[in-house]
Amino acid sequence: MPLQALSLRSSISTLTVMILSVALLPSMAQSGGNHPWMNSSLSPDERAAMVVKEMTLDEKISLLHGTGMEGLSPMSPLAIHSNGGAGYVVGIPRLGIPGIQMSDAAYGVRNSGDNGRYSTALPSDIASAASWDTEAAYQYGALIGRELRAQGYNMSLGGGINLTREPRNGRTFEYLGEDPVLAGKMVASVVKGLQAQHVLGDIKHYALNDQESGRNAVNVNIDKRSARESDLLAFEIGVQESDVAGVMCSYNRVNGDYACENKYLLNEVLKKDWNFKGFVLTDWGGAHSVEKASAAGLDHEEPGWIFYGEELKKAVESGKVPAAEVDQHVHRILRAMFATGVIDDPVRRSVVDVVGGFEVARKIEEQSAVLLKNDGGQLPLDATKVHTIAVIGPHADVGMISGGGSAQVDPPGGNAIMPPGQGQTRWLEPNWFPTSPLKSIRAKVPGANVQFDSGADAGAAASLAKAADVAIVFAYQWESEGMDLPSLSLPEHQDDLIAKVAAANPHTIVVIESGGPVTMPWVDQVSGILEAWFAGSSGSDAVANILFGDVNPSAKLPVTFPKSEADLPHPTLVKPPKVTVDADREGWKRIAAGLPAFQVTYDEGVKVGYKWYDAEKKPVLFPFGYGLSYTTYSYSGLKVTPGKNPQVSFTVTNTGNRAGAEIAEVYASLPAAAAEPPKRLVAFTKVKLNGGESKEVTVAVDQKFLSIFNVEKDGWQLLPGEYTFLVGGSSQSLPLKESVDLK
Ligand code: BGC
Repeated sequence: MPLQALSLRSSISTLTVMILSVALLPSMAQSGGNHPWMNSSLSPDERAAMVVKEMTLDEKISLLHGTGMEGLSPMSPLAIHSNGGAGYVVGIPRLGIPGIQMSDAAYGVRNSGDNGRYSTALPSDIASAASWDTEAAYQYGALIGRELRAQGYNMSLGGGINLTREPRNGRTFEYLGEDPVLAGKMVASVVKGLQAQHVLGDIKHYALNDQESGRNAVNVNIDKRSARESDLLAFEIGVQESDVAGVMCSYNRVNGDYACENKYLLNEVLKKDWNFKGFVLTDWGGAHSVEKASAAGLDHEEPGWIFYGEELKKAVESGKVPAAEVDQHVHRILRAMFATGVIDDPVRRSVVDVVGGFEVARKIEEQSAVLLKNDGGQLPLDATKVHTIAVIGPHADVGMISGGGSAQVDPPGGNAIMPPGQGQTRWLEPNWFPTSPLKSIRAKVPGANVQFDSGADAGAAASLAKAADVAIVFAYQWESEGMDLPSLSLPEHQDDLIAKVAAANPHTIVVIESGGPVTMPWVDQVSGILEAWFAGSSGSDAVANILFGDVNPSAKLPVTFPKSEADLPHPTLVKPPKVTVDADREGWKRIAAGLPAFQVTYDEGVKVGYKWYDAEKKPVLFPFGYGLSYTTYSYSGLKVTPGKNPQVSFTVTNTGNRAGAEIAEVYASLPAAAAEPPKRLVAFTKVKLNGGESKEVTVAVDQKFLSIFNVEKDGWQLLPGEYTFLVGGSSQSLPLKESVDLK
């Protein structure tokens, strides 16, 4: 929503005042005090229950909503105490409860530009999924947590985990790929790293918010079994493995009900089945009712109080909403605050560790860039033997592109492609970070002749390439919240540019900056391809380290790259029949009232990503789980020990002489009676190996990942029968196979 680009600080203009009986508060009310609930040897639940008992109804209601955002809701005068993030909830100083200062923080803390602060941009979330490295994911969350605290926030709105059902979704870069086990495990690690910094974490957008087009109107139709085994399984793993504080319900409807008032999603699945202890907050403007939402399990409305303010109070007083239900909502918020330590260890601002952030961002990108092609060992480049390099591509002299929308981290110094001082972040306009591929490559080969061409004239770029030993083309495809991609093709004639450069120089390497899969009509003409994603604050150094062999790539694709859009489950993205909301200032009123639905039907069911291409026998450009290294690996000695959580042991050998890290992937085929796609990922592990070294590894497979969701029994069920375990380095290279009977 374009209006969201406005920060709260600049938008406190409306005089729409809700009279709250809470006094004007400092933004971070003093925490703690000598209250009995400050005894940290009590459980978070005990502590929360003690506070709830002391609260007035007004105080309770004040915790259940935000204080406004222009364009999405009225504004409260209390918003003056906002820290400048997307959401601010007033605290209760008399009880020692601090306010909640929420910031978007998908790949770094948002809004630093407007707030005059600095934030590190990590590689985009999908990049972190490509590392398949849960320790790296923990560090990803920890860095964001540290920078949130340093900037005065105590809640993150990151944690996007919607599966890549629709790769043209403009938010694909914010999510963690197409597989529920990979996405769920990775988000859980991010949240653990973040919450260890005493910041409230969040997982979003629950659920099935898989396209931006018509997101406030769309009704997603999907059968329960498919939902539970795919999109919802990612949330189930994330929630259960992280004790996350918040789950953000999404804008869309699911099977007829808005996600934020969907009893099945909220109360039955999230809270009852998964035993989620935290609170459900709406996406910004995602609330649509009082009684229905409250009874369905919605705990908190953002960014304002259209439903969960005066209206909720009236509903409680008239008995339409039971007081005990409100107590439950409040309890969940307080419990999360005690559990994550935001009350015991309140935020204190400090200076962001800029240099430390650069280092973390570089290391994560080095583990996240996927080497897709390397004909004839073209890479790594030997700095002593390359004398002339042509660096080609839009803006590759100054920067690398980043993902937009509410995830956007502001580049220090402004958009690198704009004159200094004129490059502030604007909604739906791409931002480039000042991490220059040209400079990083020049630094690797100080004695060589490294020339740049923007590619605006493909003929001129080809001439430069022809005269060089090697041509490196930096290509991009920008993504943002608020839009979907028109296609998976590179924009701005970049396919033509790459084809012409490749025709001029057989040693052409393409580095892709994208948030998800792109099509590559030139794939057979180039000798090397590196998928760098949106590479973050230190992207160009990380890419140069890989190109010149200082780092051996290890990442693997968390999404399939299809050959063409015609192969997708839905070759055409379903758009709303007409523009459903005008960009007028009162548009939020119509969104809150509910927009007429249009239908998207996921009749491919559980067949998301590789499960679709496998089942439909469609060849792909690059498969899920695929990625090359500068060394090679072999697999041997598979042994499966059946049991509650079967143990899978095998040996990985580095058959080359360079040290590296291999991501080993374990898939399973279920008995025929399960009627599932040919295989599903059930475990993975990253194995570090020196040249020639072998290691035996054992992974335990969670029984749930081998089960089907039985709708009649409303639970996971392991069907008795033969299970085939497949192990290897990509979903399409699985040399080890063993079948066992499981009961
Ligand atoms: C996005 C959320 C975001 C929120 C607050 C919404 O438009 O969908 O992901 O957290 O805005 O900025």
